[in-house]
Amino acid sequence: MLSTCKSELTKPRDLDDVPGWFNPLDQALFAFFLEETADRPGDLLEMGCYLAKATIVMGRHQRDGETFTVCDLFGDEAQGRYSRKSTLDYYEKTLSLRAFENNYLAFHEKLPEIVQARTNVLADRIAKDSCRFIHVDASHLYEDVCVDIDTTRNILRRDGVVSLDDYRNDRTPGVGAAVWEGVFTKGMRPVCVTPNKMYATWGDPRPFQKRLREWAKNVSGCVVAEDIIDGEVMQRLAGEGLTFVPKPRGSAFKRVARDVLPPVVTRALRRARRPK
Ligand SMILES: C[S@@+](CC[C@H](N)C(=O)[O-])C[C@H]1O[C@@H](n2cnc3c(N)ncnc32)[C@H](O)[C@@H]1O
Repeated sequence: MLSTCKSELTKPRDLDDVPGWFNPLDQALFAFFLEETADRPGDLLEMGCYLAKATIVMGRHQRDGETFTVCDLFGDEAQGRYSRKSTLDYYEKTLSLRAFENNYLAFHEKLPEIVQARTNVLADRIAKDSCRFIHVDASHLYEDVCVDIDTTRNILRRDGVVSLDDYRNDRTPGVGAAVWEGVFTKGMRPVCVTPNKMYATWGDPRPFQKRLREWAKNVSGCVVAEDIIDGEVMQRLAGEGLTFVPKPRGSAFKRVARDVLPPVVTRALRRARRPK
């Protein structure tokens, strides 16, 4: 396994080289929602990043002038305690801030704003209605996820989207309880679910759903079905065998360079391309 805290740090060349829990269908949906919410500037936030797998994908969609904040304890309790000793035991073996930074910088020139703390500090640090996309993937305990959803409700703008990891998993019933509580008592409206994540908004989910139906037609292997829950449509997306290839944005050179080349090579190539 590459770039964990116990192994010697090596630069991952590909997203598949980065350890984590982030499958191609959700990678593709992150790209979809991060582009859909980019009609006007807004900030990005990830709660729980581990070794930067989803962080790297989110960073591809950060626009000029937008702040991207990530919050994690990074396997170290100096700035806050994990809710369970077993969680610390797991992450202190596999994770470090250095390994996170090493992985992220293999794909991006600049780190996001890093908050090494428990996610409950975010409520006082991030401005109300400032975010357009938030990934909630930190503690998976009921009480902690309730706090993360309350924070999200305050800092996500109305037409922003939140992605909630492990809303259904036999090992994380507390996440499911907190997420459905969010839906039925806190005004959170599901747009769609995948096997691993729910995507929701405090605004109107229907425009996203309309565009998702169109989008899915062009994604080979992606299947969309619909359910009605308490009178509201919720889409179910499946994508077995789907492979996600990020679409170039801006000049093909810039995009390909950012996705596949280490920053040092990108900088050298850019210098060589500069008019003399
Ligand atoms: C499931 S992993 C995140 C996976 C990552 N988003 C990915 O896509 O690969 C959970 C992360 O949350 C962090 N974490 C757990 N409890 C936390 C808490 N209360 N506050 C901040 N971070 C926490 C852990 O250190 C770990 O990195």
